[in-house]
Amino acid sequence: MEFSTEFKGREEEIADMFAATFTDSEGAEEGTLIGGLVRELLIGTPDADLHVFIARSDGAIVGAAIFSRLRYAGDARSVFILSPMAVATGRQGAGIGRDLLRHALGALRDAGVEIAVTYGDPAFYGQVGFRPMTEEIAPAPLPLTHPEGWIGQSLTGAELTPLRGPCTCVTALDKPALW
Ligand SMILES: CC(C)(COP(=O)(O)OP(=O)(O)OC[C@H]1O[C@@H](n2cnc3c(N)ncnc32)[C@H](O)[C@@H]1OP(=O)(O)O)[C@@H](O)C(=O)NCCC(=O)NCCS
Repeated sequence: MEFSTEFKGREEEIADMFAATFTDSEGAEEGTLIGGLVRELLIGTPDADLHVFIARSDGAIVGAAIFSRLRYAGDARSVFILSPMAVATGRQGAGIGRDLLRHALGALRDAGVEIAVTYGDPAFYGQVGFRPMTEEIAPAPLPLTHPEGWIGQSLTGAELTPLRGPCTCVTALDKPALW
């Protein structure tokens, strides 16, 4: 397994992998939604607001984790949100997701990112350090349908003290259906 940040020129391949994976796990409608989200994120997000990590096996993309910037109007800390991530259906359950995230979080820390958040299953993301957060700690950019899935971690060792909002996300994530 090889981890890489080189996604330019492979946007369609990555979006197709997300669409297929989410179609398998959650149905065709979700697959189309997430595939479209990934395409828009990869093509339309400024480089400074995006970190993409892919896992490759024999040249094929078998997993990806996409982080984009969250801005807090009253806070200078560097915050990125993981959304979405996927491991190809036939490759799940073999540790690829966990290893890819461990690699990605270390690279983000080295790049000066101070806080990582995501919106997902604490049972999986808890294994790589994400812990439940309230919106008093980190206001979300849009209303959360599942507040129990709002999780985060400090990457610096500093305590995760409240982020001062309001919070905004990149354009591709700025859609109520995703939250
Ligand atoms: C969720 C996902 C990214 C996990 O990647 P993965 O490579 O299958 O996960 P790993 O093999 O690294 O699993 C690591 C651990 O988390 C557990 N785990 C995996 N997926 C889980 C889930 N959905 N819920 C709870 N635990 C999970 C595994 O059992 C494993 O624990 P163990 O080693 O104690 O058995 C992947 O299964 C996936 O793409 N699923 C469909 C799309 C999706 O739900 N994406 C996430 C939301 S954006």
